Amino acid sequence: LKELRISSSLGTSTICLGPIRRSLEQLGAIQKSVLITDRNVASLYSHLFLGCRSFILSPGEESKSLSTIEKIYRKFFDWRLDRSSTVIGFGGGVVGDITGFAASTYLRGLPFILIPTTLLSQADSSVGGKTGVNFLGYKNIIGTFTLPRFVLIDPCFLQTLPEEEILNGAAEIVKHALIASPGLFRFLKKEWPRLLRKDKAVLKKAVLTSIQIKSAIVCRDGKEKGERRKLNFGHTLGHALEKSCALSHGQAVAWAMDFAARLSCRLNLLSPDDLTGILTLLKNLFPSSSSLSSSLPPKESLHAAARLDKKREAEDIRFVFLSGIGKAVVKKIPYFELERLIDDLYQSG
Ligand SMILES: NC(=O)c1ccc[n+]([C@@H]2O[C@H](COP(=O)([O-])OP(=O)(O)OC[C@H]3O[C@@H](n4cnc5c(N)ncnc54)[C@H](O)[C@@H]3O)[C@@H](O)[C@H]2O)c1
Repeated sequence: LKELRISSSLGTSTICLGPIRRSLEQLGAIQKSVLITDRNVASLYSHLFLGCRSFILSPGEESKSLSTIEKIYRKFFDWRLDRSSTVIGFGGGVVGDITGFAASTYLRGLPFILIPTTLLSQADSSVGGKTGVNFLGYKNIIGTFTLPRFVLIDPCFLQTLPEEEILNGAAEIVKHALIASPGLFRFLKKEWPRLLRKDKAVLKKAVLTSIQIKSAIVCRDGKEKGERRKLNFGHTLGHALEKSCALSHGQAVAWAMDFAARLSCRLNLLSPDDLTGILTLLKNLFPSSSSLSSSLPPKESLHAAARLDKKREAEDIRFVFLSGIGKAVVKKIPYFELERLIDDLYQSG
C-alpha cells in the first residue's frame, strides 16, 4: 500500500493507494460510520459494506444539489450522528463532493473518508479538499475546503468503469501532466492505448503520479490563492462548454486544453514542437473533440462559455496558459483580450 500525506493550511489527510478492497468491511465496523454512495456503485459493490447504514443517491451530476444535501442532513439527524461519527463516501466525484460538503457542514464538521471509484475521482477530485454542490446552473458554486481524513484508492474498482468514464479521468491526468510533469506526459504519450484498455499497471502509475502532483500543489496552496489556480487549466472554458455544447466532461476539457495550448503558442509562450506533441496526445485520446477542425464549437459558444465561467472576476479572467510541457502560467487578462484571442485563433483556422 502506497501512502501519501497532505499537510496544508486545510489540515492533514492521508491517501492510501493499493488493494484496499478486502479491508473495506472493517470500515463498516467503525463505530457510528455511515455510507454515502450512488445506485450504480451500490449495485456493483454493496456487498463490501454489509451492515453499514447507507444513503444511496441517483447517479449523475443532477444529484449535486442543495436538495440532496437537505435529504442527507435529515438522514444524519435520524441516525443521531455526532462528531464521533464518520461519513464514508464511496463512489465517483459526485459522491465525493456531496459527501464532503454534507459532512463538513453538519454539526460544523464530521470526519469523512473517501473511497473514489472512478478514474476522475481517484486521479483528481478525491484529493485536495474541495467539496460542493451546483447552484443556479453554476458548477460547484457552493462548497467548502475540507480535507477528508483518509482517501482510500484501489484501482481495481476501475475495471467496471465504462470507456467514457475512463476518458473523463484521462483528461484530468493529461491536465496534471501538462501543468506539472513532462515525465507523466512522456508516459501518457507511450501508454495511452493501454490506459484506454484499463491496463492495471498503467492505471496505477497514472493515478499515483496524478495524486502526487495534485497533493504537492495543495500542500503549498490549500485555498487556491496562487499556484493551485494552475489546476484550472482547461476548465475555465471546459466547464461551460460541457454545459453549452452537451459534451462529456473529458471531451470538453480536452477541447479546452487543446484550445489553451494553441493560445499559448500564439502568444509565444509555448513552442510549436511542444504544441504538436500536446495536440497529438489529445487527438489520440479524444479523436472527436480535439483540434480546431469540423468539431469546433461555434465561436459564439466559446465567448458565452468564457463569460459564464464563475472564475471570471469583474472584467478580468484568470486564464491558465502553458509555457512548456509541464509548465503552467496563470495570467489575469481583460475579458475582451481573451475574446480577441479567440477570434484571432478562429480566423487563422
Ligand atoms: N472536488 C474536486 O476537486 C473535483 C475535481 C474534479 C471534478 N469534481 C467533480 O467530480 C464530478 C465528476 O466525477 P466523476 O467523473 O467521478 O463522475 P460520477 O461521480 O458522476 O461518476 C460517473 C459514473 O460512473 C459510475 N461509477 C462510479 N464508479 C463506478 C465503478 N467503479 N464502476 C462502474 N461505474 C461506476 C457512477 O455511478 C456514474 O454513473 C463532477 O461533479 C465534478 O464537478 C470535483
